Amino acid sequence: MTTSKIFNKWDQTHSELWSHQPIRLEHEMHKSPAFSMDDLAKLIKGYPREHYSLVQTGARGSSKLWREGDIGNLSGREVIDAISRGGLWLNMRDVGAVDSRYRKLVDKMFEEIVAKVPGFQMPKGHQESILISSPDAQVYYHADLPGQSLVQIAGRKRVYVYPNTAPFITPQHLEDIALFNVEVDLPYKEWYDDHAKVLDIGPGQMLGWQMNAPHRVENLDTFSVSMTISYTNEEIRRNEIVNLANGMLRHRFGYTPKTRNLRGPSFFAKAVMQKLLRDGKWVKRERSVRRPIDFRLDAAQPGKIVDLPKAA
Ligand SMILES: [Fe+2]
Repeated sequence: MTTSKIFNKWDQTHSELWSHQPIRLEHEMHKSPAFSMDDLAKLIKGYPREHYSLVQTGARGSSKLWREGDIGNLSGREVIDAISRGGLWLNMRDVGAVDSRYRKLVDKMFEEIVAKVPGFQMPKGHQESILISSPDAQVYYHADLPGQSLVQIAGRKRVYVYPNTAPFITPQHLEDIALFNVEVDLPYKEWYDDHAKVLDIGPGQMLGWQMNAPHRVENLDTFSVSMTISYTNEEIRRNEIVNLANGMLRHRFGYTPKTRNLRGPSFFAKAVMQKLLRDGKWVKRERSVRRPIDFRLDAAQPGKIVDLPKAA
């Protein structure tokens, strides 16, 4: 790894905006050898099955489609080629745990941000993933509970970031995400776009935004490689506890939560309750509806997929 900086063009406005507003920054991570096509191809070929999702999505403007698949016996290059032909994205989750080069890059990124943004604490944890997607791919309107950054490595994307307030997202939506992991089922209306900040990013650019801000992403007709980063700190952790506990109160006990306090007696009671219930049978059952793997890529016909028989 080089010792060069990740942010060469950071200015005072970035320090003031970071984690409060949607913000576009210039970075140097796309120059790392870890993001060369050769290294990405190797990474794909050996990627642990339980850590990746290959998803077929609808083209822009078509109705929602979401099927999960397997890379089959394709080489990393062939997978990249299949994705470049359209209709697919590959998410290699928690890549920092699989290859420490990516984790070190993100560690360095946060060290620089902590040094530049007063009050921003070094995240207690971060998880990075590499998302490789087709020229026509999109990510539907959703929100995430942890802090989020989107680092563009290759290709161009248009990102719509919406306010993290009602009607775009409500406390009940946050509770449902915490409880059921249903980020992509957030209700979306086209007129929301009038209230979005629209940011285009290309190689060497990245985005951050305020906690829980809903967003959606469209590729700008280019094959795209991005790194997504989610992170938690003390404030984010306390919010997650409140979201989960309030969701339990509402869904399990039929009680409408009255506060979102992050400190004091109500917070303490919620922290205890969600810890007791979090790993219990009820939450596990609510979360147990997983999407099946129902296609694989076809080595004989580049760009084609093969439907797998439905599991009984
Ligand atoms: Fe997201």
